[in-house]
Amino acid sequence: MVEKVELLLAEVESFSSSAPDEIEQFRIRMLGKKGEVTQLFAQFKDVPNEQKKDFGKKLNELKTKSINKVNVLKEAAEQSKESKTNIDMSRPAENLAFGSRHPISIIRNEIIEIFSKIGFGVSDGPEIEDDWHNFSALNFPEEHPARDMQDTFFINDSVALRTHTSSVQVRVMEESKPPIRTISPGRVFRNEAISARAHCIFHQVEGLYIDKGVSFSDLKQSLMYFAKEMFGEETEIRLRPSYFPFTEPSAEVDISCVLCNGDGCNVCKQSGYLEILGCGMVDPNVLENCDIDPSVYSGFAFGMGVERIAMLKFGINDLRHFFENDIRFLKQFRSTV
Ligand code: DAH
Repeated sequence: MVEKVELLLAEVESFSSSAPDEIEQFRIRMLGKKGEVTQLFAQFKDVPNEQKKDFGKKLNELKTKSINKVNVLKEAAEQSKESKTNIDMSRPAENLAFGSRHPISIIRNEIIEIFSKIGFGVSDGPEIEDDWHNFSALNFPEEHPARDMQDTFFINDSVALRTHTSSVQVRVMEESKPPIRTISPGRVFRNEAISARAHCIFHQVEGLYIDKGVSFSDLKQSLMYFAKEMFGEETEIRLRPSYFPFTEPSAEVDISCVLCNGDGCNVCKQSGYLEILGCGMVDPNVLENCDIDPSVYSGFAFGMGVERIAMLKFGINDLRHFFENDIRFLKQFRSTV
């Protein structure tokens, strides 16, 4: 009798079918009122006592395996029936929803693309920065009020979240020697209240060009080329004297207003111009701090806010849109860059 159970066990294990009536027949043959399993249970009392334990164990195993097999096959048959009946081959394909790039990524990539055409590579540095790279090497004297130009998130006395990507200038100059032509896009952090015009996290692109004989006119030409590529051929630029500790002379660059072309409107506050970036000739002290001889080399640097450029380019009037990631806002941007 034990052999019979074993034969049936092998049969249960090898049985397979996806046809519901075959599965039902199998169930009746094994588990039905007159099924094999039921009959064997009825014969249990006739089994010699010393074999009862072994036989009982095997019989229980046969019963559970038969039940499981029936359940598994039934379920599989049910599922394949469902999926077969649900396929409508004549239905038009569903539209794929394409994602879009974030406007900040679109503008950052465009800036990289524009500068790559005039030979600028891309470099980056850490967001958690030491005092040397964020301030000291950039000619911010210790205790100098210029350090207060930017409200800093300090991690400890000498480590902070970088307040600008100018820190990457220093890293690049320390690691490589001129000629250097690089832009450094990245996130920066300032301890500022969040409003339509300011955020505590935003994006900048830093530019740096160091070689023999680099002059202010190279700076002006490069930025004019950038402005025209980014905002259109008719765009004019205007340089206003300014101050940054790491450049001398320093300037702020305005472009002719993208909305009124210089006539004066609400966006440019009737001035006809919009400020887009800060720039200047790299201060000889900064070159020296990075072991570059200022009597041989000169260079220019510039830094711009990516959000600012994106706001002007896309006509966005509130910086917070960039950080909220409202899908209705993001959906409006389609680009391949
Ligand atoms: N780091 C400046 C800022 O965050 C921007 C800047 C101005 C960068 C002039 C420069 C520069 O490289 O030359 O406001």
